[in-house]
Amino acid sequence: MTGKEEFLKELDARVDGARRALFDFVCRDLMNVNSDYNWVGIYILNGGKLVLDTFAGEKTEHEVISLGDGLCSMAIVTNAIVNEPDVKGNSKYLACFPSTRSELVVPIRDGDRAIGELDLDSDRPSAFKKEDEDFLTKVAEMISHRVREVYRE
Ligand code: SME
Repeated sequence: MTGKEEFLKELDARVDGARRALFDFVCRDLMNVNSDYNWVGIYILNGGKLVLDTFAGEKTEHEVISLGDGLCSMAIVTNAIVNEPDVKGNSKYLACFPSTRSELVVPIRDGDRAIGELDLDSDRPSAFKKEDEDFLTKVAEMISHRVREVYRE
């Protein structure tokens, strides 16, 4: 027999594991969908900051981003997609990798509110088209219920 406490602990660990596996799949396998997707990350709001939860590609120094800084927070604050064809020409851009030339940030929502985002960097200028925006909006919608479980105001 398993005690209730023990069962709930085990269930919690499995829910966490399932979420982790899903986010890992999204980041890792999105890199294989398009050779222009050179970095993929999921940032989630936590205590008024954007925290990098999962990523595929190189490690970035921007693991925690204050709202107000960079294109990532712009997508949250405006609750809209940010599609920057030329990052070097945008003074708001926070540089992660010297090779990055364009960036797409797609909000992940709880109802109407942006609670996290998918962030994609490309080494090619103007890499992201309307079809990428539409495709990644679908991805964001499909994982939003899992992001809702972990975001904190
Ligand atoms: N470039 C982002 C920061 C995150 S990195 O791209 C991984 C920004 O301007 O907010």
